[in-house]
Amino acid sequence: MDSRVEMSSTELLQAQALIWNLSFNYMKSMSLKCAIELGIPDIIHNHGQPISLSKLIESLPIHPSKTHCICRLMRLLVHSGFFTKQKGDHQTQQEEKYSLTPASRLLLKDEPCRLAPIFFTQFEQEFRQTSLFISTWLRSSDDTAFETIHGMTFWDFVAQNPRAQQVFNGEMVTDSKLTAEIVVKDCKKVFEGLKSLVDVGGGTGTMGKAIAKAFPYMKCTVFDLPHVVANLQGTENLNFIGGNMFEGIPPANALMLKWILHDWNDEEAVAILKRCREAISSKDEGGKLIVIEVIAEDPKMDKQSTETQLCLDVMMMTAYGKERSLMEWEKLFFAAGFGHYEITYVLGLRSLIEVYP
Ligand SMILES: C[S@@+](CC[C@H](N)C(=O)[O-])C[C@H]1O[C@@H](n2cnc3c(N)ncnc32)[C@H](O)[C@@H]1O
Repeated sequence: MDSRVEMSSTELLQAQALIWNLSFNYMKSMSLKCAIELGIPDIIHNHGQPISLSKLIESLPIHPSKTHCICRLMRLLVHSGFFTKQKGDHQTQQEEKYSLTPASRLLLKDEPCRLAPIFFTQFEQEFRQTSLFISTWLRSSDDTAFETIHGMTFWDFVAQNPRAQQVFNGEMVTDSKLTAEIVVKDCKKVFEGLKSLVDVGGGTGTMGKAIAKAFPYMKCTVFDLPHVVANLQGTENLNFIGGNMFEGIPPANALMLKWILHDWNDEEAVAILKRCREAISSKDEGGKLIVIEVIAEDPKMDKQSTETQLCLDVMMMTAYGKERSLMEWEKLFFAAGFGHYEITYVLGLRSLIEVYP
């Protein structure tokens, strides 16, 4: 018996188009990966002006039998917003020419906020493999998909694998460089009047160093696990302290938690927030928490940003973590004893949330 619900031709073709879109979408990421590996953004940049297809091909380390593939690769990447194409002119025999966009500029080798590491983390064999087996994990009793596939947690894998550690740390550093650049430029009022700040889970101090430099009157501390901050050199207004945020956090006027809470489940996130609540100064002394995280399902986000956030959430799910909606954040803040919060929307896919006692 044919059980299919009656669909018009239009509905049928739209449904097919959506399934094709989701099935082939990964070719966007793969084409970008290929372009970065071939050095295309740097070749265009070093050319100093829009580059013709023939000049680009000439500069690429590819086999002569593959030259016809480059215009097709570039066609998809132009469509995805990674390059722009200046049309050619048959009459004057002017070739089409390619230029960089802000997104491909962020992938250049000497770009201080180079975002290639976050991109390549997603291509690490183990991370990608995990995403192929989400349903296998959901049928199992394992805590994370990463454990189902690799027999250990994501964090143990990173700790035991120097290459993964290097890629993951690189991702954190470049992300913090970009975030710090915006925070110190566009969020000055968030730091006004603060005498001390602790960056909880601040890694090797990329964010802490930028804030300490931008606000020299403020005493900054980067707090992370002892092995992470061991042997790191502070400056006049920046120091490193090792410890465990579940046990106690050094006291300060304000604390910052950037991309920390999304690594933990609700109970653990509340436990961290309670330790933070104990460590900050009173309401009268301006005590607060500065949380930098995704707010999922935020109606202020455009469709593409929401899609990126939801993909990030499912990726986090396979490794234990979670992206939260505003209601979910609110529940955690109030459960940990905080009274109110304010959101600043200047960080694109993430938001800066000031949480007060
Ligand atoms: C996702 S990274 C974020 C790093 C940094 N805030 C950033 O955004 O670049 C999480 C950080 O939390 C630290 N961390 C994990 N467990 C911790 C604990 N129990 N106490 C203190 N730091 C911890 C990790 O070492 C790591 O640096």
